[in-house]
Amino acid sequence: MRTEFHEIAEDVFRFSTYVEQADLVFNQFLIVAEQPLLWHCGHRQLFPSVLEALGRVLPPSQLRWISFGHVEADELGAMNHWLGAAAQAEVVQGSTGVLVSVNDLADRPPRALPDGEVLDLGSKRVRWIDTPHVPHGWDAGLIYEETTRTLFVGDLFTMTGRVPVSTDGDIVTPAIATEDLGRASAVTPASGPTLRRLVSFGATRMALMHGPVFSGDLPSALGALADDFDRRLQDGVSDLRHL
Ligand SMILES: [Fe+2]
Ligand SMILES: [Fe+2]
Repeated sequence: MRTEFHEIAEDVFRFSTYVEQADLVFNQFLIVAEQPLLWHCGHRQLFPSVLEALGRVLPPSQLRWISFGHVEADELGAMNHWLGAAAQAEVVQGSTGVLVSVNDLADRPPRALPDGEVLDLGSKRVRWIDTPHVPHGWDAGLIYEETTRTLFVGDLFTMTGRVPVSTDGDIVTPAIATEDLGRASAVTPASGPTLRRLVSFGATRMALMHGPVFSGDLPSALGALADDFDRRLQDGVSDLRHL
């Protein structure tokens, strides 16, 4: 497995590894600033490859913050490896995640961010957004980097296969197909509204964990995915009524 990297916005880097067994790319993102932040730790098995690639951009020991969306191996598997590589680094995650899991899982005490709080990295500013159960997990959340207007959406819009680095094309049809295949999202009455709320931040690009960087029409894409989640919920309710 080989980890490629590209600068996807000013001082924002995407590290991407295609894993054949899963037919998926697994992406991590590095936000370079006075206090550099890594978004997604990657699996433990990917750590040597991601570490080597990240080291071409920044000495890993300079990482200040390590963050991820929810507790799952591709999100935090290598968390303690990164803490070992960067003596000053702290894990930062949402209040729920820290309380429920990360306090126990992280080798050093993590920092908890309430919904909407901004972490000032210096030349970059990262806002934590709680998205409980979107796409899955009580602890789920996303980050929005304000200076580059980049929304880091984790598993949302997951796309299978070897994907391009970036696109402004259709990311909704592949996302619906992948959801049909994997049923990875926990659809609740709050799912659609949670996705529509993301439009209000005014992002101009979305960085996907399993897909390209999307720079097309964000409000339309988020609205269409919200509509699909609503449809899945309604279909599920009407199926139950016919039991
Ligand atoms: Fe996930
Ligand atoms: Fe993922």
